[in-house]
Order: sequence, then C-alpha cells, then structure tokens
Amino acid sequence: MTAPLTILGLESSCDDTGAAILRGAEGQAAILANVVASQTDLHAAFGGVVPEIAARAHAEKLDLMVEQALEEAGVALAEIDAVAVTAGPGLIGGVLSGVMAAKGLAMGLGRPLVGVNHLAGHALTPVLTDGLAFPYLMLLVSGGHCQFLRVDGPQAFHRLGGTIDDAPGEAFDKVARLLGLSQPGGPVVEAMARSGDPARFLLPRPLLDRPGCDLSFSGLKTAVLRARDGLIAAQGGLGEQDRADLCASFQAAVADVLAGKSARALAGQTDLTGFAVAGGVAANRTLRARLEAVAARAGLPFVAPPLALCTDNAAMIAFAGLLTYEAGQRDDLTLSARPRWPLDAAAAPMIGSGKKGAKA
Ligand code: KG4
Ligand code: ZN
Repeated sequence: MTAPLTILGLESSCDDTGAAILRGAEGQAAILANVVASQTDLHAAFGGVVPEIAARAHAEKLDLMVEQALEEAGVALAEIDAVAVTAGPGLIGGVLSGVMAAKGLAMGLGRPLVGVNHLAGHALTPVLTDGLAFPYLMLLVSGGHCQFLRVDGPQAFHRLGGTIDDAPGEAFDKVARLLGLSQPGGPVVEAMARSGDPARFLLPRPLLDRPGCDLSFSGLKTAVLRARDGLIAAQGGLGEQDRADLCASFQAAVADVLAGKSARALAGQTDLTGFAVAGGVAANRTLRARLEAVAARAGLPFVAPPLALCTDNAAMIAFAGLLTYEAGQRDDLTLSARPRWPLDAAAAPMIGSGKKGAKA
C-alpha cells in the first residue's frame, strides 16, 4: 500500500473559485475540505460571465479559498504533498490566475505541481464519489459542455459524440430568457415545467433520427422562440399556463434527445461498469429519471454524484490530480494555461462547440 498523499486542488476556469484538500492513494481519496466562492452575483447584471471581472475575482479569492480549505481540513500548508490545478479548458484569465497561484504554492513548498484538464475532473468524479471502476460511460451536461465520454482510465478518454452547437444548460438558460424567467434558467424552467403539459407544443428532437451520438440544441431553442411568438401574435401575450407548457415541452424534448442518444452511446459496449452523469443539468429530475431508466435497460448502475461535486469544484481537480500524479505526471513552471484543451485529442473537433470561454 502506497503512503497516502495529501493533495491541494485549485479550480478557477470559469466563475467559481475553488480550493480542496484530498487525502488518498491508489485511486481512492477522502475529501478533507472542498470550498468554493461563486461569482454569480458579480456577473448577474451582465447576463453572462465577464472574463475580466472573473479573472480579477479569482486572483483576489484564490489565497482566501486555500486558507479556508486548510483550516477546514485541519491541515498545515507544509503537509501538502502536491498541488493540482485546472490548466484548461476555460476562460484564459481565470485559468492563468489558478495556474500562477499553484506554481507559487508548489515552488514555495518545494512540492510537485500537476496540471489537470477540467473536463477530466468532471469525468473522473464517479470514481471519487462511488468508486466506479473503469471503463464507464460519462455524459457531461453543463452550461458550456455536452459530450459522451468512454472513460477507460485516469488519462484515457474516448469521445463518442457531443453537441455541435449549444450545450443543454445554455439552451435552458436561453429558453428562460425568452420566457422572461430568471437566471440560471435550468432550475426555473424545471420548476415551471412541473405544472405544464409536455405534449402541448410539438418541438423538434434534433439529430435524434440520425446515427451517431452527436447532439444539437440550438434549433430547439429557436423552435421555442417561434412557438412563443406564435402565441403572442395569436393572443397578444403569454399566460402562466403558456409559459409552463412551453417549459414542459422544451424539457421533454431535451430529455428525449439525451435519453435517446445515451441509449445509443451505451449500445454495443459490453464491458462498461456503469453510466454516470456530471454537470449542472444533471440536477434536472426529469432528465435524471430518464437516464436512470436508460442505464437500467442496459443493465448498468446509474451514478449521479451529489450536486456540489457535479458542478464546478476543486475536489474533482484534486482527485484527477491525484490519479495523474500516481500515473507519473509532473509539471513544472513551464505549465501553461490552455483555453482550449480537448480531452480526447484523437476526436474530430466539433464545429461551433466548446466555445472559447464557455463554462465547462
Ligand atoms: O455545471 P454547471 O454548474 O456550470 C457549468 O456550466 O459548468 O451548470 C450550470 C448549468 C446552467 O446552464 C443551469 O441552467 C443548468 O446547469 N442547470 C439546470 C438545472 N440546474 C442547473 N438545467 C436543467 N435543470 C436543472 N434543474
Ligand atoms: Zn465544469
């Protein structure tokens, strides 16, 4: 048994500044602390994340988060054996803030530095939370990303497909905006959908009739816009029930598409240990139920990590750092921040997807 390692993780790729301390070895770890400072309030007035404001806030908050994590964990800085940091993909200013902070800490402590791909952090979370063994299928559904990954090992990812335009969370947010609802849109649309009729508006199920695991959500959002405008033209405005029915119909279309494509991604793979989800959209109950049913039909366990570990956090970065450290990866002061960094370098780049700076 290898001696357990105490690892500090830093996350600052979008609008959450996170620090976490994990202790573990051989693919297992305990979370000693996992703190996050959200910047939602700072960006609220702008209708989206402002990169310059985000970078500045990360630079201000990183030290504070590290101090808080150490205190919560009851660990002294000198006890940290390695420093893991998100080195991309994400907003360049934010990623740079984290990478520079991590370099300073690693150098000051004389400890190794490990640069982590943010998406690997999400993709490896089911190993941390549920001890899921490789290989498994991961559906990453967030505000900036949507992809199916076959995870064969800590550094072996194979992308089976992904969105060719918007991410589902982005679509939820845009639909909320179209209907005059608050942001972030996902939880509000889900709440409205509960009293709505999912069959009232027949919305498209983009790419569901095409082979493969690619997805598209931009046309669906436009279809909601048309349905909304049709109602406004016909009756002069939108009632509460109209909004609820539009939300329910939209959510049903998203769930149909994600469930259908998940079934396809699982089909023909006989060696998987489970089907896992991560990302903020995985909080959606209708979607979770559908995905759980898809996993059950495939005879696989369904793993949905607790929400705090599904959304952006530093525990997942520390854990991915631990796994890659154990695989022998070490970085030094030449580690660079990569705004774009596909997990599966062999997969064809997706046109229009993984927008620069989109939250992953
Ligand atoms: O993973 P996340 O916190 O941030 C990243 O994008 O990385 O995901 C945020 C996204 C937002 O677009 C939000 O509207 C969506 O997740 N979301 C939901 C729900 N809760 C959050 N979408 C649908 N249903 C929800 N209950
Ligand atoms: Zn993320």
